[in-house]
Amino acid sequence: MGSIIDGKSFAAGLRARVADHVAALKAEHGIVPGLAVVLVGEDPASEVYVRNKGIQTRAAGMESFEHKLPAGISQDELMAVVARLNADPAVHGILVQLPLPGHLDSDAVINAIDPAKDVDGFHVLSVGLLGSGQKAMVPCTPLGCLMMLKDRLGDLSGLHAVVVGRSNIVGKPMAQLLLRENCTVTIAHSRTRNLAELCRGADIVVAAVGRPNMIPGDWIRPGATVIDVGINRIEEDGATRLVGDVDHASAAQVAGAITPVPGGVGPMTIACLLANTITACCRANNLPEPEGMGS
Ligand code: GUN
Repeated sequence: MGSIIDGKSFAAGLRARVADHVAALKAEHGIVPGLAVVLVGEDPASEVYVRNKGIQTRAAGMESFEHKLPAGISQDELMAVVARLNADPAVHGILVQLPLPGHLDSDAVINAIDPAKDVDGFHVLSVGLLGSGQKAMVPCTPLGCLMMLKDRLGDLSGLHAVVVGRSNIVGKPMAQLLLRENCTVTIAHSRTRNLAELCRGADIVVAAVGRPNMIPGDWIRPGATVIDVGINRIEEDGATRLVGDVDHASAAQVAGAITPVPGGVGPMTIACLLANTITACCRANNLPEPEGMGS
């Protein structure tokens, strides 16, 4: 039976370091880091995320600016909100919650964010910096996954990592980060052949496909490290339950270490968002960047 990677306590540790930095920024420089979150429409899952972001931002001592906008907002109106946040010196980080309603051009909105405030790391400039090995704002979920992997494994050089999923939010930046750590990286997706065999060859499996329990234990090499990014709601015995993309019960029997769902990657995402906001705030004020924040 492998060990369970406790994302909840790992995230609590990171949030505590963030809170210490916030206190120091206030005491020494009179600066309060500010994070603006923009939510369009009323998607219940997004509302939960946004509420949690606000609570944790304030708990860390930062300023939280929440903009809840109607689902029918026009592209121009949304772009005007982003422009106002870009110009606001109290806002150091801007996050536009995805997905946006279908009539809006997400790429145009994300690319309108000032890259210096792009705490999600989704702006095309951030993506290019990461891909070309330059200092970049790193997307929060893969950053959290990498922190947990390095904590568990130390040096990742030469390890074979299989990333299942090729989204812009997780799969692609995760692969870039692992490459930066000298892993041999395979990106797999729904059209990949022999996925089971590929996974069996991996020292690290990162599952980010959004399909409940898709990866069974017999796809995992004994001793491998498994990071389960999936958060899937399933109905079972009349109740709703959260499960990952990995069949946890069988995979935990063979993996060396595995993240649970919930309580694994999820809590790390918001903690990394707070860490990125501190980084952006320090850069904006020409202050040294804090250590141990991941980017
Ligand atoms: N939707 C799901 N995850 C994320 C995220 O990390 N950032 C944003 N902006 N939207 C998301």
